[in-house]
Amino acid sequence: MLNFEFKNPTKIIFGKGEIAKLEKEVPKDAKILMLYGGGSIRKNGIYEQVKTALKDFEVEEFGGIPANPEYEVLLEALKIIREKNITFLLAVGGGSVIDGTKFLSAAANYEGEDKWEILTKPVRTFEGEGMPFATVLTMPATGSEMNSGYVVSRRATNEKLSTGGPGLFPLFSILDPEVIRSIPKKQIANGIADAYTHVLEQYMTFPTSATLQERFMESILQTLQEVAPKVLADDFDYEAAGNFMWCCTMALNGLIQKGVVTDWAVHAMGHELTANFGIDHARTLAIVAPSHYRYYFENKKGKLAQYAERVWNITEGTTEEKATKGIEKLEEFFHSLDIKTKLSEYTEEYAGTAEKVEKAFTERKWLGLGEHKKLTPQDAYKIIEMSY
Ligand code: NZQ
Ligand code: ZN
Repeated sequence: MLNFEFKNPTKIIFGKGEIAKLEKEVPKDAKILMLYGGGSIRKNGIYEQVKTALKDFEVEEFGGIPANPEYEVLLEALKIIREKNITFLLAVGGGSVIDGTKFLSAAANYEGEDKWEILTKPVRTFEGEGMPFATVLTMPATGSEMNSGYVVSRRATNEKLSTGGPGLFPLFSILDPEVIRSIPKKQIANGIADAYTHVLEQYMTFPTSATLQERFMESILQTLQEVAPKVLADDFDYEAAGNFMWCCTMALNGLIQKGVVTDWAVHAMGHELTANFGIDHARTLAIVAPSHYRYYFENKKGKLAQYAERVWNITEGTTEEKATKGIEKLEEFFHSLDIKTKLSEYTEEYAGTAEKVEKAFTERKWLGLGEHKKLTPQDAYKIIEMSY
């Protein structure tokens, strides 16, 4: 096991009806900006629950943060923070609203004139530097509710960039599985695929001596597989919803990555597909992951075989045969969620994408992804080409 430090200061408040606890958890003198997305919270009752809990506070609102939070929209929210002397941000939404709020937390106290440079430099936000914020999670997927990273898009330049820092953990996050009732099936499938791939990014490297970490990761994968059909069924299953929600948080709150090497190349390539085609984040991962694992088969076959064996009970065959089966099982799992795994199934304009990704990786100097820190822009080219 590698050396590590672990600190996660976010308080989790989990369970039915817990949104009411906002009243107790928000600092008493806070002047709040409540941030939300395109309006789902107004239809499913979450908006009323939040407003009721905050009735004794001064609350301004900013709605309309789109999926893949857009920089230009966030600048509008930043103006409100300035004009209304906001002291506390409350994100009520999924990864997009929470990530947008993290950017605002960082930007509120950032002195540079050009806020986009927070993403391009990138600037990390250290403890005490960001504006305090909390979240009410409405969509399990990203783990953003208990981590300190965020991703912001800028459509004008086809960029999707990420940064973060230890100053950007939410003060607290409320996780009420009841919110899952109103999520469209397509978005639930996205959440499962995103969380599943988060685990894989930290797992699918090479066998390590971090035994407990590996077992944690295999448990999250198996739990997601187990609850997937239940949360995608028409009847709402509270227990399945709760386990799904907690899996998503645990997949990316920092715990499972400690003591192991990680990859994250699938996400870096996936973000380019969202930036170029607007494909949902989770679906870009399903497009890239199988090709990535086939391209790096020699490096990853030990772990792929372990995955096949422990997660899918594939006990027959050589390491290579089990590893190959592991990739096929992964593809089957995505298909069981009704998620397609080829770029050409999402866009007819896929020709030239490998060149675009190679160029973006070269321009952004994105070198050294993958567990051996050796992925080059040319490797990204080949992986994307394999995913057509
Ligand atoms: O905008 P509204 O109307 O609220 O609708 C949203 C949105 O259209 C809807 N939704 C959310 N909760 C709902 C609901 N609809 C009905 N009932 C509810 N309870 O779902 C749609 C998608 O929401 P979004 O927040 O975009 O999804 P997700 O949570 O998947 O977030 C995706 C973003 O997070 C980034 C992605 O790149 C992407 O920009 N990521 C953030 C990470 C992090 N901070 O750690 C890690 C991830 O790998 C990821 O990159
Ligand atoms: Zn993700």
